[in-house]
Amino acid sequence: MSMTVHAKPSRPADTHQLALFTGILAAYAANDDAPLDNKTLYRMAVKQAGLPESVLDARVSIGGSHGHNLMTRKIRWFQQTLKAAGVIERIPGKRGLWKLTQPNKDKLNQIDTTLSVLGFSTRLGVAILGSCETFFKRIDTPVHLVVTSPPYPLQNSRDYGNPSEAEFVDWMCRMLEPVVKNLVPGGSICLNISNDIFIKGLPARSLYRERLILALHDRLGLYKMDELIWESNKAPGPAIWASKTRTQLNVAYEPVYWLTNDPSLVASDNRRVLQPHSKEHQKFIAAGGQKHRYESSNGAYVHLPGSYSAETKGKIPRNVIKIGNADFSQRAYKRMAIANGLPAHGAPMPLKLAKFLIEFLTKPGEVVVDPFGGSFTTPLAAELLGRAWMATELVAEYVLGGALRFKEFMGYQNHLKYAA
Ligand SMILES: C[S@@+](CC[C@H](N)C(=O)[O-])C[C@H]1O[C@@H](n2cnc3c(N)ncnc32)[C@H](O)[C@@H]1O
Repeated sequence: MSMTVHAKPSRPADTHQLALFTGILAAYAANDDAPLDNKTLYRMAVKQAGLPESVLDARVSIGGSHGHNLMTRKIRWFQQTLKAAGVIERIPGKRGLWKLTQPNKDKLNQIDTTLSVLGFSTRLGVAILGSCETFFKRIDTPVHLVVTSPPYPLQNSRDYGNPSEAEFVDWMCRMLEPVVKNLVPGGSICLNISNDIFIKGLPARSLYRERLILALHDRLGLYKMDELIWESNKAPGPAIWASKTRTQLNVAYEPVYWLTNDPSLVASDNRRVLQPHSKEHQKFIAAGGQKHRYESSNGAYVHLPGSYSAETKGKIPRNVIKIGNADFSQRAYKRMAIANGLPAHGAPMPLKLAKFLIEFLTKPGEVVVDPFGGSFTTPLAAELLGRAWMATELVAEYVLGGALRFKEFMGYQNHLKYAA
């Protein structure tokens, strides 16, 4: 996959920026969690970044003082930003010695949102440790489909945090805008969000979903193709309104909004996701279809004898998609993450759901994006279906945990090996 990364941050910027950054992380990783002094770090980082060691010898004058090396200054600057992002930490009581921060269940290491660090990659895709807003502003690769599930505006936030209900619409528009600018004409965006956000203290649902869809249309020019219903086997709830006050029903679904920038060119094709006919329907076809003339009471439709007798390749799926929350792939991911000392993501999407959307909305070779990578389910579905992919995720441990799902794929490289 060809991808252009425009490095335009305000501080040390050159064409080797991303490579140097990755080099620094790789140096810490290669040092097996032992403290790394700066001299060793400089040498290892430039080597890992594919630069000659001689770049460390050049000296320049800065502000009247002589003998400065620009490369070591850059490395130290990156080191500071990695520290600010919580990815590396100072060894207590030892000046100038740093090590990679170990994953901690109670405190996830979110990277500084101004940075984009290469996490892991395969022949088909690239996972970035960084904010979607920052990364997608810097790239101009055409995108065919976005399948994503952002943090929901929950009152009791999850480990990774979330925007409040009041800020959600503006926040989502800001996060999606850089991706939407790269969406090919007729490309799609699938957004899985929660229907179960209640007005504080009331059994009434927030209208944030409605406000979001209107804002995505008015501000980003996206059209609503459909609101798919993902029916799952969610745990009963909301406990207070369904089980305690008994004013609500138990929830059973989440919406998946399907949006496009150009409905006249939309690239969906339901022939890619046909489902097998039921046994009853197969029998019905084999028996010659409709037996007698049938007319609905208001005359709106008529079935003539012999209708529906032709063999078809399958059933066109309905827009209610029934898929259990936890599937085999997720369970395997959770086991692997825990076995590697990493926190398992608490809100992964079923692989089947991501696969269905990708097959319906793209052709092999096209580019699928997930700005909110989480456990990297969308990238995994894309990889399995031969689509190229890009994903961003703010939390270092989730990038590391997601990487475990890609080890078997062609060209796999993990650039953040430190916690394994
Ligand atoms: C609901 S989870 C996504 C789960 C994912 N669909 C899966 O299958 O695992 C949302 C994720 O977005 C991440 N996130 C939040 N803000 C982000 C940002 N600005 N850029 C990238 N990732 C972000 C969170 O850390 C969290 O892991």
